Amino acid sequence: MKICILSGNPKKEGLCQSVIEAAKAGAAEAGAEVDEIRLADLKLIRCQVCADGWGPCRDENYCRYGSDGFDDVRARLAECDAIVMATPVYWGETTEVLKSFLDRLRRCEFNQEKVLRGKQVLLIASPGGSGNGLLTCLEQMERFCLHTGAVIFDYLGINRWNSDYKKAAVQAAVAAMAGGRKRGDTV
Ligand SMILES: Cc1cc2nc3c(=O)[nH]c(=O)nc-3n(C[C@H](O)[C@H](O)[C@H](O)COP(=O)(O)O)c2cc1C
Repeated sequence: MKICILSGNPKKEGLCQSVIEAAKAGAAEAGAEVDEIRLADLKLIRCQVCADGWGPCRDENYCRYGSDGFDDVRARLAECDAIVMATPVYWGETTEVLKSFLDRLRRCEFNQEKVLRGKQVLLIASPGGSGNGLLTCLEQMERFCLHTGAVIFDYLGINRWNSDYKKAAVQAAVAAMAGGRKRGDTV
């Protein structure tokens, strides 16, 4: 079992990264391998909205600008068995790096060739200031999963004043998913 952590976190420490460390601990607990993709370190371009919005991505499942590193990330996602998508909440949304990556990936995943279809994804958002914007951020990630056929395993929100018990939930959720539990199973 290989778990990919698709991270929108620009920071290397802090609340969101501590949540990601809890996710890694959950994967280790289940004996799973982890591939952490830190999108903020990759400097990928945003969607160029080719051909008046109807570029080759939607029908031919590739991005014309994929050699900027986008193709490599997609290949790493294809290789894993399940995904943890984790981001701090910025303006009630995912961070800009995750948002712009998902914009490109959704286009390439829309038609027949799907890396994400049927793959389980655990959605994690950490709002740090007011705590507001958690639901809109999770909803944004949910919409991406609905468009691409990814299967949402669970939704988790972690903030400054619940991180003690919510990080335990993150670890347990990743351990359950990496251990083979499927959405819809009864425990
Ligand atoms: C540009 C920006 C926008 C933010 N917007 C929100 C927000 O809408 N709601 C919130 O609770 N926190 C917001 N925050 C705080 C981050 O969510 C917080 O930094 C992060 O979730 C957790 O802390 P960390 O940065 O130590 O990982 C924002 C932070 C930045 C930099």
